[in-house]
Amino acid sequence: MPTRYLIANWKMQLTDSESLKLTEQISRLLPAVPTTDIRVETVLCPTQTALDVVSGAARDAGISVGAQNVFWEDKGAYTGEISPLNLKDLGCDYCIVGHSERRTFLNESDEMVQRKVAALLRHNINPIICVGETRAEREAGKRDAVIIKQVQAALAEGGSRPTGNQHIIIAYEPVWVIGTGQAVSPTDAAAVHHIIRDMLREMYSVDEVEKNCFVIYGGSVNVTNLSAFLQEDVIEGALVGGASLQADEFIRLAELMST
Ligand code: PGA
Repeated sequence: MPTRYLIANWKMQLTDSESLKLTEQISRLLPAVPTTDIRVETVLCPTQTALDVVSGAARDAGISVGAQNVFWEDKGAYTGEISPLNLKDLGCDYCIVGHSERRTFLNESDEMVQRKVAALLRHNINPIICVGETRAEREAGKRDAVIIKQVQAALAEGGSRPTGNQHIIIAYEPVWVIGTGQAVSPTDAAAVHHIIRDMLREMYSVDEVEKNCFVIYGGSVNVTNLSAFLQEDVIEGALVGGASLQADEFIRLAELMST
């Protein structure tokens, strides 16, 4: 059965009680979404402090939980950071790394992303790796070069491998469309997805790519444009910010995702 990912990135938009309320609403509505021959893996990524309550409320509805950040060491003098061990305790099966907002505001580098991905895989947490070009990079004709560099770095050129049932999810998010309401065209996104998929095929076996790797799109995904993205076979789901903050809208995305 083919799997698609629907991942909510709540960023720093909600208080803990708002996160809990939204999780409860989604958990109540999601089981009513008709099942099809497509399995939709739904992942909620709340702010760190809400991880505990969100995973408690999401579990029974078969919804997974992801963090928005992790540190690459298990323990030590790293004030303010959160270990993969903490994420495990909090019920996280996923973690976003390399989001453009962290690359921009917190100087998260390709090297940091690489170390975080390795730490997550070591602890059996599935990384959701964000890659994408800025407007300036795109206008300078550097889109593909930026993507190739970010993907190569994040996966240590194939040195970081998924094992067992681990999933590596790469989210192509053109930085300049995030939060604008104006996504790139599905054909444009699909071209980048093909580049990423070809890279994965060079790094891993056919079996690993099929079973353990997913490439999804993010950047102003909403109920109006999601279906067009999914018509491109190479797009295996979406990472959603703004449109994941209202239960009704998110459930509609889940319905579209499974059709
Ligand atoms: P957006 O955010 O859907 O609001 O554009 C996506 C993201 O930043 O992951």
